[in-house]
Amino acid sequence: MIQGPIGVFDSGYGGLTVLKEIVKELPDYDYLYLGDNARTPYGTRSFETIYEYTLECVQHLFVQNCQLIILACNTASAKALRNIQQKDLPKIDPSKRVLGVIRPTAEIIGEHTKTGHVGVLGTNGTVSSESYLIEIKKQFPNIIVHQQACPMWVPLVENNEYNSAGADYFIQKYLDELFTQSSEIDTLLLACTHYPLLIDKIRKHAPNGITILNQGEVVAPSLKDYLRRHPELETRCSKGGTRDFITTDSTSNFDNHASLFFGSAIKSEFVHI
Ligand code: DGL
Repeated sequence: MIQGPIGVFDSGYGGLTVLKEIVKELPDYDYLYLGDNARTPYGTRSFETIYEYTLECVQHLFVQNCQLIILACNTASAKALRNIQQKDLPKIDPSKRVLGVIRPTAEIIGEHTKTGHVGVLGTNGTVSSESYLIEIKKQFPNIIVHQQACPMWVPLVENNEYNSAGADYFIQKYLDELFTQSSEIDTLLLACTHYPLLIDKIRKHAPNGITILNQGEVVAPSLKDYLRRHPELETRCSKGGTRDFITTDSTSNFDNHASLFFGSAIKSEFVHI
């Protein structure tokens, strides 16, 4: 039986906020993280480009023996996941799995909102895909979802400006735009894996008493449950406790920056995709 690490993918650093929570919940497995830093951000790109880039990264992780891959990127989950699951996986290897972060997040939203009004903060790509509107409606038809694209937030995080006055300006700006849509919103979903680094400032600028959902904390228990329900796949995920990191751009930049997202030191390797 072929075994391999669990692959975790993001356009850049953001997916590390998800990996950090997954590793806490499921420490025994091997993990291989791929950040496509050379081509980040994905959020402003076309459907075709996001799909093409995501598929290339998924194929690379399969070559590294990953049997299960988590797209720890909302933009890729929104724009590429369905095509990969339905068109590509049957051709590549139907026994392998690629999972996203949108469905597990949509599944728990009803446990948090009391007013039935939820605010979804994401990239242009995630918002324009309407994936959250669709997935939340399937699970909770009565919940009203208000979306807000926050195109400046990923660049602030990627460029280490997330503690600056500029970050305050753009956080206040997009939250104002969101709460103008409805003052009844009581739950905010950080629907971009970069946004947990902005959570303190988001809390500061959001109205008091708002619940803010950090996606990694949702995806990790959901993955644990998935592995329990799919023993045939679980046994193909190797358990050596290793964490490996690969990036399509400079490894020194990655190592310097990535620990902010992951919470501990990282030593990455370069990969050309
Ligand atoms: N981290 C990605 C997400 O969750 C977005 C970053 C990007 O725009 O590439 O959507």
